[in-house]
Amino acid sequence: MPQLHSRSEESSHPTSEPSPTIARAPGKIILSGEHFVVLGAPAVAMAINLYSQVHVVPKNGSGLSVTADIPLRFLAGKSGNPPDPGELLLPLQMAAEATLKQTGSIDHALQVDVECEIPVAAGLGSSASTTVAIISAVARSNGIEMSKKKIFQLGFVPENFLHGKPSGVDQAACIYGGMIQFSRPSNVKTVRLKKDPVLLVCDTGIHHMTRTLVGGVVQKSKKEKKDFQNYLAKVREISSGVARSLREGDDEDLGTLMNQNHELLRKIGVSHPKLDHLVEVARRAGALGAKLTGAGGGGCVIVLSPSRGVRDRIARVLRREGGTPYKISMDTGGVESRPA
Ligand code: MEV
Repeated sequence: MPQLHSRSEESSHPTSEPSPTIARAPGKIILSGEHFVVLGAPAVAMAINLYSQVHVVPKNGSGLSVTADIPLRFLAGKSGNPPDPGELLLPLQMAAEATLKQTGSIDHALQVDVECEIPVAAGLGSSASTTVAIISAVARSNGIEMSKKKIFQLGFVPENFLHGKPSGVDQAACIYGGMIQFSRPSNVKTVRLKKDPVLLVCDTGIHHMTRTLVGGVVQKSKKEKKDFQNYLAKVREISSGVARSLREGDDEDLGTLMNQNHELLRKIGVSHPKLDHLVEVARRAGALGAKLTGAGGGGCVIVLSPSRGVRDRIARVLRREGGTPYKISMDTGGVESRPA
């Protein structure tokens, strides 16, 4: 992966001719607060070292051509309805078009090629990562170094289409990198870590539709107001506890809070028997904490380990149980772009 750079301040010199550009953005995991963040509670999220990369070059003729090399193999044969590749391209096209409009370059003819190494529909931020990389690359190809705030706002165009009612936490994590505490509408605080948590991601191989899951929780929260008030109060405590334990390097506390968060997510019906099984197996194999991450209904669990040795052992056990483990670490750069 080439070294990519971006300054976060905007320098607005739209060019008459677009130039070749490359950008990349990380995926993400959520340590606490998913779903409840849509309803106003804070979430803690971390950018991870799985990336999407975007190349933009001027092309002959007119309009936008978007191609995507997306790990669809992760979907093949595992979930009921693998998405149509055309459907996957639509939000990418929307991100590029919205950026051209925003930068006053709607007449530029561009070829946009996306490569994504983040499993799709697994809760690891593949859609947010690809769209923020596209926004950053297309803007820069038109001579504009877009600010992180502006990328965040534009990121809602494809995310609204995909998720219906996104909180913005996914694109914030992919844009800012590192560990963040996020609350709606756009409150992003960096969480400074005393030490890096030893984390493992494990994919169930069952893939989900974030839009359906988020919509279901929003409906439920309207019907079960009293319960949700309690859950939201609990999640506020959990997320501020998670941020505190990360700042203090208190892994025991962090693990306990992750376990509590998983229970709440089970209560609101977004877990899945395979997620619960992998969480249980990880805890029995020595994890300090384990929970589903992202929208749930399948997708991934995250596991906190006391050491790398224990993490490697847990990874072997989870693989035997049918999961696909990834030993991830934190990305600190967020979205970055440079001339190609
Ligand atoms: C998905 O990664 C996180 C959710 O909370 C949805 C959102 O915040 O947009 C489930």
